[in-house]
Amino acid sequence: MIDTNTQEKRQKLPMQGVPQPTREEVLKLPRVHISTHPVMAHKMTALRNKHTSSAEFYQLVKEVGALLAYEATAHLALEPWEIDTPLERTTGYRLAGGIGITPILRAGLGLAEGFREVIPDAQVWHLGLKRDERTLQAMEYYNQLPHKVDLQICYAVDPMLATGGSAIDAVNILKRKGIKRISYVGIIAAPYGLLKLSQAHPDIDIYIAVLDEKLNDYGYIVPGLGDAGDRQFGTF
Ligand code: URA
Repeated sequence: MIDTNTQEKRQKLPMQGVPQPTREEVLKLPRVHISTHPVMAHKMTALRNKHTSSAEFYQLVKEVGALLAYEATAHLALEPWEIDTPLERTTGYRLAGGIGITPILRAGLGLAEGFREVIPDAQVWHLGLKRDERTLQAMEYYNQLPHKVDLQICYAVDPMLATGGSAIDAVNILKRKGIKRISYVGIIAAPYGLLKLSQAHPDIDIYIAVLDEKLNDYGYIVPGLGDAGDRQFGTF
């Protein structure tokens, strides 16, 4: 169960008085993909429920991650690949080039696991970005991006697109690494963060399960699901 002190971790009210776009305004953004799958809606309700245990929550994040992975990988490039069936030689396909997943620590870990169930060969590039709870600015504290970069696409994954700060920074870091094609994948977005990310990086696709109403004064998404990291790892 979520501890009610979640919001008290944030001493200040960084979103107080900050104008926020409406859902209708951001629904017009061109590269935003919002799931319409009924299974997603079902799982989202369990995720939002404050009575869902951490163990169930983590499992649900992985399942939602796998569903999002199906949607976000629908347009990947393939290359022909010769194989022998037990009967004869035939030409099939394999994903062209490597696939990267960048979970933004720590909340992105469950989503990355869900992605790996769909694409087990994907490289996982961990990136530690932490929000300063008072200013909501993202700070990099851990980076396991490899030296050699040879990917068709890299997915930056983080469940909550709130103010957009961490997502924008993560995409900046991946672009500086030379990644040409990047998508962002999250579970819940607030209109504010979605607009900020789209404006900062109009060349990326953004896949989310749901678009919520707004950020509250503390910077939490409402109705939301609380703190996605705390709920996955039981640290209330
Ligand atoms: N991060 C979370 O985990 N939850 C929110 O509502 C906003 C940011």
